[in-house]
Amino acid sequence: MIRSKFSLPAMALAMISVVACNPTETNDETTTNEMKLNDHHSFSLPEEAVITHLNWVANVDFDKNVISATAEYDIKTSSGAEKIILDINNLNILSVEDQSGNQLEFTSGDAQPFLGSPLSIQLANNTTKIKITYTTNPDAEALQWLSPQQTSAETMPFLFTQSQAILCRSWIPVQDSPGIRFSYNAHVTVPKGMLALMSAENPQQKSETGEYDFVMKQPIPAYLMALAAGDISYKKVGNRTGVYAEPTIIEAAAWEFEEMEDMVVAAEDLYGPYQWDVYDLIVLPPSFPFGGMENPRLTFATPTILAGDRSLTSLVAHELAHSWSGNLVTNANWDDFWLNEGFTVYFEQRIMEAVYGRDYSEMLAVLSMQDLEATISDLTGKGEEVDTHLKLRLTNRNPDDGMTDIAYNKGYFFLRLLEEKVGRELFDNFLKAYFTENSFKSMTTEAFISYLDKNLFEANGILVEPELYDQWIYGPGLPENHPLPVSDRFDKVDAVVNDWVNETPIGLLIPQEDLLAKKWSSHEWLHFIRHLPDEMTTAQMNELDDYLQFTYSGNSEILTAWMIHVLKHEYEPGYQNLENFLVSAGRRKFLVPLYGEMAKTESGMAMARKIYSKARKNYHFVSTSTIDELLNWQIAERNQQK
Ligand code: BES
Ligand code: ZN
Repeated sequence: MIRSKFSLPAMALAMISVVACNPTETNDETTTNEMKLNDHHSFSLPEEAVITHLNWVANVDFDKNVISATAEYDIKTSSGAEKIILDINNLNILSVEDQSGNQLEFTSGDAQPFLGSPLSIQLANNTTKIKITYTTNPDAEALQWLSPQQTSAETMPFLFTQSQAILCRSWIPVQDSPGIRFSYNAHVTVPKGMLALMSAENPQQKSETGEYDFVMKQPIPAYLMALAAGDISYKKVGNRTGVYAEPTIIEAAAWEFEEMEDMVVAAEDLYGPYQWDVYDLIVLPPSFPFGGMENPRLTFATPTILAGDRSLTSLVAHELAHSWSGNLVTNANWDDFWLNEGFTVYFEQRIMEAVYGRDYSEMLAVLSMQDLEATISDLTGKGEEVDTHLKLRLTNRNPDDGMTDIAYNKGYFFLRLLEEKVGRELFDNFLKAYFTENSFKSMTTEAFISYLDKNLFEANGILVEPELYDQWIYGPGLPENHPLPVSDRFDKVDAVVNDWVNETPIGLLIPQEDLLAKKWSSHEWLHFIRHLPDEMTTAQMNELDDYLQFTYSGNSEILTAWMIHVLKHEYEPGYQNLENFLVSAGRRKFLVPLYGEMAKTESGMAMARKIYSKARKNYHFVSTSTIDELLNWQIAERNQQK
């Protein structure tokens, strides 16, 4: 067992102070010394030796659900470096060689919960490359292997990866820290008849042989490594934009995302040129555990945003915005996650405002505020106030624990507060410079604060309250000076809810013609459902459902919000569709509130377990790890076996 930095607190302390470190700019032996990493979720010590480029050659075996690969890295070492440390989790390391084919000695430490183990490779004076031959295991946490029945055409199996936050190490041995970047190329073999795609320059059609080559020339952190393979086709939607999906849904997907090109243009107008050449999106099978994942050049997305009316496209704006906030300027470690997500929600709202107008984006802002208030009250109720700080403290914890609405929406409102304080013009200039000057670098919260003080406040002679950062970044809850989004469109919805509660029939309040003309967007419907009273009779539920058909909604946000009422009010006509939805969709954002609501009562828990026993096989590890805990799944299973 080698000693990891986790057993050396003094050394970890000495490493604090990462600022904007960019290994690809290291071109002499000394510069790696400047790379201080303070990431408690990676074993790597880049100041000694750091990876700069990956050449990945892989064979994807759908019979065994295994990837066999070699990962060959160019490395930079400080003088006298004796070893390089990578992160691995559940990988079988077969051999390690240097650039001349000489075997290098390696050891791996004991696996730690969620972190996996350090892979420590002995270096010689002249080692410039390391080549690792390895295989993955069928239960690799990042990988989801789908049978043909779990896809929409049901003809071929499918594979996709999810590397964020620290799962890349379960399919590639790598220095798995957002503070370390590398470029890559890859040669991937999949069964004939399949298309393979990565977070890289991608093919647009299938090859004869099932072999594909990829290049990602810009340096990226490991959490943006991505691969998908299956029966996938492509359709162009704009100059630099296109959609990939299974052939059965490609037309619907291309229609839904037709405005992608407008979004890229709007984003560039705001904060400078798009740096990744192409912006494509792949619609994955329903088990994808997130709404979207910003893999560079190729956003991964859930099919639950195919609402048929373009009403959920803010998700595309969000993932596109990450091409700046996150993929260009990257949180240095997961304690700074709000630098990725808060900036992205702010940027997403600005894109939506530019493309659809302020009254539309204000609806989104009000919904964000509702989500934020619910999350703060939930975390505070559980005594977890520290997780309501923007700057997180995830030492010895799974980074997943910090991935709540706080980073997204408290982050968003903090940036909106800054905008309102200094005015849009100054704030936009500031943000544009922030993205440009820090491109391809990582950023800590502290480095951001000094950048902000210098370039926004001091440069413009603006005084800030000394408590600003303590309140918003290092303090709990929602500070009193928070911005207040307002939406006239939602005020009208509130009036309808109010009249309905006072017994005006819904058909009078929302005439049939208005329904047919789709006068309300899905956001208005969501607001409506969220504001229905806690107490409703079955007759009232029936009245709404007969007229508005929420139980059959094709919009997953509306369906989830409605199903919460279905469960609260034990509204049985909704049960079958709830089950159908949970068995097919694996997006954690919907699973958590639905299973969570069921878990509140004994009979609900029984229902949850029954549905979960059918659905679990369709979920990715990211979702099962959360829902297992919520439903005490292992414990329940063990008890059953007794
Ligand atoms: N990068 C995130 C997804 C993520 C976060 C994966 C943390 C793993 C760990 C992505 O950009 C995201 O925020 N997705 C949201 C959609 C969005 C519109 C808020 C989601 O999946 O719900
Ligand atoms: Zn995001």
